[in-house]
Amino acid sequence: MDRLSITGGHPLNGQIAISGAKNSALKLMVASLLTPEPLTLTNVPNLADTRFLAQLLATLGVEVYWPKGAHECHLNAETLSSTIAPYDQVRKMRASFNVLGPMLARYGHATVSLPGGCAIGARPVDLHLKALSAMGADLLVEGGYVKAAAIHGLKGAHVVFPFVSVGATEHAMMAATLAQGTTVLENAAREPEISDLADCLNKMGARVSGAGTATLRIEGVATLKGTRHAVMPDRIEAGTFAMAAAAAGGDVTLTQAPVGVLGALIDALEQAGVTVEADRAAGTLRIVRGATALRAVSINTQPHPGFPTDLQAQFMALMSLADGTSIIRETIFENRFMHAPELSRLGASIEVGGREAVVKGVETLRGAPVMATDLRASVSLVIAALAAEGRTEVSRIYHLDRGFERLEDKLAACGAAIERLSGDEG
Ligand code: EPZ
Repeated sequence: MDRLSITGGHPLNGQIAISGAKNSALKLMVASLLTPEPLTLTNVPNLADTRFLAQLLATLGVEVYWPKGAHECHLNAETLSSTIAPYDQVRKMRASFNVLGPMLARYGHATVSLPGGCAIGARPVDLHLKALSAMGADLLVEGGYVKAAAIHGLKGAHVVFPFVSVGATEHAMMAATLAQGTTVLENAAREPEISDLADCLNKMGARVSGAGTATLRIEGVATLKGTRHAVMPDRIEAGTFAMAAAAAGGDVTLTQAPVGVLGALIDALEQAGVTVEADRAAGTLRIVRGATALRAVSINTQPHPGFPTDLQAQFMALMSLADGTSIIRETIFENRFMHAPELSRLGASIEVGGREAVVKGVETLRGAPVMATDLRASVSLVIAALAAEGRTEVSRIYHLDRGFERLEDKLAACGAAIERLSGDEG
């Protein structure tokens, strides 16, 4: 298993180009199942997760042409060889579960393994199933699989989500594009990735309106066609590098950045005393931090446009070096503080009680061996290590490889002393 070795104390200076958004790319790739025509996606990030989803789609019979290292991915689901997504593939990545609705909508049947929980929480799929059932799907949960059928096709429905779910909104939206009649999704997620997916679906001939608001309206159509679509830039990657620059100090400009959807983070960084210059038209975000101390800022994670849960761990790493005490409340996932004990190994002072972490800023962090527990937790350790004195070794970075493209190269190009070590600990 690879590890990262990071020697802290080097400010970051330079430019970092932001890659395509993992969480958008995954759902856009799934959308290929809705049409017998080719879907070409550009700006697809080369990540363990996107490659993994491509494998699952290939297992289902989708022709995938995606050369190694390329960012353009061609998917052709003209005919599927199977509508069964097996446990081994779905359990490794939850987004795989979203193949259920599109296959059901197009073929009238699909069998997909339940994804199971993961390190950050139980993460059930009840809202996904309720939405499909409201659209007339017969669902049988048996032996760890959801067996779904809609022999006469899915029907438009009025679905009111009891709370916001990104995955359930996307899942229901995709299934509804091929349903008979109109579907209205209320209390829908407003994440930018939903709008990216809606844009692509509309280019494919779907009739989705309201993306970016809490009410989505989808008029079903008989068939969808192929198209070409560029994946939006990754707001979580951009936010992560912004916080890396804020923690290590320096002057970094992020290019191809989704500036317009980073408002909550930009506010928090400015309150912390970091200089942020956002140029929406140019898609650049400049982060400058000199010798000034960081101020403590408290945040609650919220669905978009609130502070994203996927940036919470990174913000905690930053706040562990602030002047004062910040309270970080995680309202989306019940177990998303696993980075706290690892950050403490670097000298951070963090007390976790339920969904709240109290972070008392310290003057210095010190390098130590630490272990990644999930994707965003692992990158919070990298941020802390960049600002720490001495050397940190982050193990289990396969988590990191799921969601950050060439992370160490991008940071090293800005002056970070970061290196990938292959194999197990020596
Ligand atoms: C997406 O997960 C993202 N993943 C997550 O990013 C992100 O943290 C999350 O949205 C919130 O923004 C992908 O897009 C692939 P949810 P998702 O459904 O869709 C509960 C990362 O690091 N819930 O909005 O699974 C659920 O347990 C990942 O890139 C139900 O109870 O998130 C959670 O507490 C991690 N029943 C809350 O809702 C359901 O049927 C929000 O989850 C569905 C969800």
